Amino acid sequence: MCDFLESNRAEVKRFWRNEEDAFHLSHYFEFISGLESNHSAKEIEARTRDSIAGVHFCDVTRWRPTGGIFNDDDSEIAQKADVIITSLVFDVVAVDQKAFAAVLANVRYVHQSLPTPVVVMFVELSGAI
Ligand SMILES: C[S@@+](CC[C@H](N)C(=O)[O-])C[C@H]1O[C@@H](n2cnc3c(N)ncnc32)[C@H](O)[C@@H]1O
Repeated sequence: MCDFLESNRAEVKRFWRNEEDAFHLSHYFEFISGLESNHSAKEIEARTRDSIAGVHFCDVTRWRPTGGIFNDDDSEIAQKADVIITSLVFDVVAVDQKAFAAVLANVRYVHQSLPTPVVVMFVELSGAI
C-alpha cells in the first residue's frame, strides 16, 4: 500500500498493526459485509489487514529518470504487488489531460513488472478531466 503523505501512511500503519488509537473503519467493513452476505465485518477487516504487505511512500507524478514513483529503497515494492488499485488519486493529482497521461505513464513502469499486470482505477467521472 502506498501514499504520498506521511500522515496518511501513519494512519494506515495504525490500522495495519491494529493499534488502539487507529481510526475506526468499522462502518466501511459493515457496508462491505452487507454486500458479501456470507462474510462478517470482522472477517473482512482481518482479511484487509492481512493483505497489506507493506506501507510505502509513492509519488505518482515522479518520472522514471528521476527515480520513479517509489523511493530507491522501495524498488522491491512492485515484486510484492499482485495488482495496482488506485482510488481517487490520479484525478486528484492531475490538473489536466496531459498530467493525467503522464501519471498513467509513470505507473506503467510498475505495472509492467507485475507477474500478471492489472490496474484497477477508480476516478471521478464528473470531474474536469
Ligand atoms: C482523495 S484521496 C483518496 C484516498 C483513498 N485512495 C480513497 O479512495 O478514499 C487522494 C489521495 O492521494 C494521495 N496523493 C496526493 N498526491 C499524491 C501523489 N503525488 N502520489 C501519490 N499519492 C498522492 C493523497 O495523500 C490522498 O491519500
